Amino acid sequence: MKNTLVCIFLFLSIPLFAEDGSRLWLRYEPLPELVSENYQQIISNICPAGSTETARIIEQEFVSAFENMNRRNLKFSKIITTNSLVFEIDTTIQSGYFIQTKKIKKGTYTSISASNDIDLLYGMYHLLRLMQMQEDITHLDIHEKPVYDRRILNHWDNIDGSIERGYAGRSLWDWDDLPGKISPRYTEYARANASIGINGTVLNNVNANPLFLSKEYVLKTAKLADIFRPWGIRVYLSVNFSSPTALGGLSTSDPLNVEVRQWWKDKAKEIYALIPDFGGFLVKANSEGLPGPQDFGRTHADGANMLAEALEPYKGIVMWRAFVYNATSPDRAKQAYEEFMPLDGQFHKNVIIQVKNGPIDFQPREPFNPLFGAMQKTPLMLEFQITQEYLGFSLQLAYLAPLYKECLDADTYSKGEGSTIAKVTDGSLFSQAVTAIAGVANTGNDANWTGHHLAQANWYCFGRLAWNPDLTSGQIAGEWLKMTFTTESAFVEPVKEMLLESREAVVNYMMPLGLAHLFAWEHHYGPEPWLAIPGARPDWMPSYYHKTDSIGLGFDRTVSGSDAVSEYFPPLSTIYNDITTCPENLILWFHHVHWNYRMHSNRTLWDELCYKYQDGVDAARKFQKVWDKMAPFMDKERFEDVQGKLKIQTTDAVWWKDACLLYFQTESRQPIPYEIERPVHDLKKLKSEKPVNPIP
Ligand code: GCU
Repeated sequence: MKNTLVCIFLFLSIPLFAEDGSRLWLRYEPLPELVSENYQQIISNICPAGSTETARIIEQEFVSAFENMNRRNLKFSKIITTNSLVFEIDTTIQSGYFIQTKKIKKGTYTSISASNDIDLLYGMYHLLRLMQMQEDITHLDIHEKPVYDRRILNHWDNIDGSIERGYAGRSLWDWDDLPGKISPRYTEYARANASIGINGTVLNNVNANPLFLSKEYVLKTAKLADIFRPWGIRVYLSVNFSSPTALGGLSTSDPLNVEVRQWWKDKAKEIYALIPDFGGFLVKANSEGLPGPQDFGRTHADGANMLAEALEPYKGIVMWRAFVYNATSPDRAKQAYEEFMPLDGQFHKNVIIQVKNGPIDFQPREPFNPLFGAMQKTPLMLEFQITQEYLGFSLQLAYLAPLYKECLDADTYSKGEGSTIAKVTDGSLFSQAVTAIAGVANTGNDANWTGHHLAQANWYCFGRLAWNPDLTSGQIAGEWLKMTFTTESAFVEPVKEMLLESREAVVNYMMPLGLAHLFAWEHHYGPEPWLAIPGARPDWMPSYYHKTDSIGLGFDRTVSGSDAVSEYFPPLSTIYNDITTCPENLILWFHHVHWNYRMHSNRTLWDELCYKYQDGVDAARKFQKVWDKMAPFMDKERFEDVQGKLKIQTTDAVWWKDACLLYFQTESRQPIPYEIERPVHDLKKLKSEKPVNPIP
């Protein structure tokens, strides 16, 4: 009896939902009384949204969210009355949705209208977002439409459940259990994506196992496609270019071979019979050891077009990646341009080239990839990384909207001033049959989906920017914080500020002033700037990137160096080429700079470098102080979890600063300025201890 009482007591004292982060930004917490009363006056009944499965989702989601937020039942009404919420299909609407307050005899009602039910679903989430943020919904007149047609997550998930560069647990997809056993997380995943407008998902790693195209696995994929469909999400697969040989038993995978071409056509037919709205293929070819058309003396265009032809009857697309480079290249940053520019105009119209934001590889800061704006006869799509392979895994806070915005807003000058990457890729500057954007997902089966609670903001901001690249990083951070935690400004304002500063902090304590790839070679966590392994690929060694010597630091990519600057349009090519006009946050990317070069601050390069590393450490410490004051605004679980991670971040920021400064000091031979904290590490010791992968 005593035990039962204890159990009842414990049960009552535990909140209904343990705050493990699993509810993401869709928490629908009860609203303050006054706000709620107002909403109940504006919406008191809901008209059925239709008879499709999506319509059912719209009704269920809205009613349950409304009832949670307002602690009041919402009635269904067959006719529109004052204060109805109405979902209207209007086929004259070309794209997106309207949310409007409309007049009716004795009052008003709220209408969400669109030409199809998926856009209605997006409109419904928009309205719920306004309510979660406690915005005024009395007079609404909103029209929203997405800038990119395809807004896609790329999962680097493997058949064995592991995730390449995944830091939030194992894969969400239980391949062994599919198609028979269905995890409830599949629907939750689709729901979260739909709420931010993501409408596509590539289920498997770009380093693709051919087995994904076997009948057995296509059946599993088809099951996921069935679950995702009512949420407006199409599935895509990464394919291995040698599948005809590896899976089909053919003697070659040559894209010009008739049997190979037929094999892909038959495979497409088989897939579409099971998944009629299958999105298409993502391909990594002739990159990092993967097979591709060049193995047969063919070009990327030959390979992509063969796949495009197979998918064309079903309106599928090929996303062909431009992430290519080879070990012998004197400048890896030039490679994609060199391989792809000569092929511009040779791709079928259902091929889109998927290009990473920077010319190397998702570094904390890179200039944009010069292919943007340069390839004008071929559609291009951006690939961002949401998972933090190079920005501290899921242990460090780096809110990535500022990184994404920096790229989207960058001016390529390809058609004169204002030719931003957003415009180059959204079809407005160059006509594009297909427009798309991709983000390498940071999700896994951790309860909170993304490992770090605050990394959910990166999934969220990717979706929001894929819908509208004009949104600001601050706007998106504000939305996310209010929905995920609380609308209290004493919380939102300081934490928003912290999010907005976080990516720059990471840049500063890892790789300021345009440095790149100083990471521990094997797993990319922690610094190893000194690394040079005899016999290893030189372009995987930090020394290849920083080129430090007794004269200075940085990679000379000017016209007298590797000439990568010339891959950019003027005036950028000239701006980057000239050390006095090159933006200082990229100066070591484009120039080998003398240790005593005077920076804008009037400090020497060496001193400036020391100050930048210190800025990064100071920022990490500041984040801890900001967060320490946030306990009253949230549950203990999330508060303490983030607190613990921020502590790790500061420790690791100091590690980065010490390792890099002590190592570069062996070349600069100059003292660390007096104002900079003395290193607490010893260089010899750091060099002898290999950085451990904290999330193996
Ligand atoms: C990086 C990453 C790899 C990944 C590759 C890619 O190099 O470290 O794990 O496979 O990018 O984008 O293909």
